[in-house]
Amino acid sequence: MKTEYLRNDAAGISRAGEILHHGGLVGIPTETVYGLAANAFDAEAVKNIFVAKGRPQDNPLIVHIASPEDLEPLVGQVSEAAKKLADAFWPGPLTMIVPKPDSIPNEVSAGLSTIGVRCPSHPDARAIIRASGVPLAAPSANRSGRPSPTDFDHVREDLDGRVDAILDGGVCTVGVESTVIDMTEELPVLLRPGGITLRQLRDVLGEVEVDEAVTRALTPGRRVRAPGMKYRHYAPKAPVTILDGDVLAVAEYVGRIPNAAILCFAEEAEALRGCCKHLEVYGGKADAEAMAHALFAALRKFDTLAVDAIFARVPNAGDGMELAVINRLEKAAGFERVTLGGE
Ligand code: TXA
Ligand code: MG
Repeated sequence: MKTEYLRNDAAGISRAGEILHHGGLVGIPTETVYGLAANAFDAEAVKNIFVAKGRPQDNPLIVHIASPEDLEPLVGQVSEAAKKLADAFWPGPLTMIVPKPDSIPNEVSAGLSTIGVRCPSHPDARAIIRASGVPLAAPSANRSGRPSPTDFDHVREDLDGRVDAILDGGVCTVGVESTVIDMTEELPVLLRPGGITLRQLRDVLGEVEVDEAVTRALTPGRRVRAPGMKYRHYAPKAPVTILDGDVLAVAEYVGRIPNAAILCFAEEAEALRGCCKHLEVYGGKADAEAMAHALFAALRKFDTLAVDAIFARVPNAGDGMELAVINRLEKAAGFERVTLGGE
């Protein structure tokens, strides 16, 4: 199929809406990452998303709405806690898991009795949803297993010829996917850290549990609450290893590995520059927002360099944006972490 490239002007948005309304697939910008959208009411259109991405059938999709007020008409009754979250963080990078209404086909929820719903803040995303006249099911617009796309070129790289259109909305500001929180149990459970931090969630809700899969490799046979968390994800072609410990020990360790690349903090660039073939800085040591913004583009860049090993420095754990950065890199690394020398 020939993919149409659309600009984010009135004509482009209206064309995207038209294609979606008629069952087509469109790559759309959001503030987190680009999404691959289809009419969430149209089972056939939704099936095509899985084909275009090469996505496993058991991994459910997020339903995107144009305005926070669209939640109740879509899902029926909304809990007080969910209302509080929507008031605080929508439009924005937060996905809430809620009971699935009958209007949403099983293809969207991958057979689960729940769905994820999100109202993005990106003006183009909201305009496209409005123009289509329906809620849009949309996973990240990468080929399955690749890092999520944070720029138009990334989507083109992965999906050219496989989707009806891609709309260019520039670079995504947040850079990692939305936070996913399960609101169907007594206690809210964080399933995926993202653009809204654990600290922000706890400020609004009080207690929030953190699902095991956020910080640990899954043991086979365990029940998976967010099916997407069980796949090796966000992964460049070369194996990724997280290196903890002293920067000089890191320089020495990486120096012994041929054809290696390292992802590091700005403060460490000078000490690490000589030790490897390629070095990529993704932010200051205390600036997890900058790291989130730059992370996936850096992982994609490593792919173009044909390096044999990738090493990454990660921020210290906390309840802010660093949780999302650590989670994505741990998943890219298959939770492979090595501690060197002293801290
Ligand atoms: O920021 C984002 O969320 C982006 C943009 C496009 O909105 N979308 C995105 O979608 O990251 P995707 O499909 O790549 O990730 C959705 C995650 C997966 O881990 C999936 O398993 C989980 O949300 N998820 C979706 N529906 C769920 C449900 N009903 N129960 C539990 N987890 C669910
Ligand atoms: Mg994804």
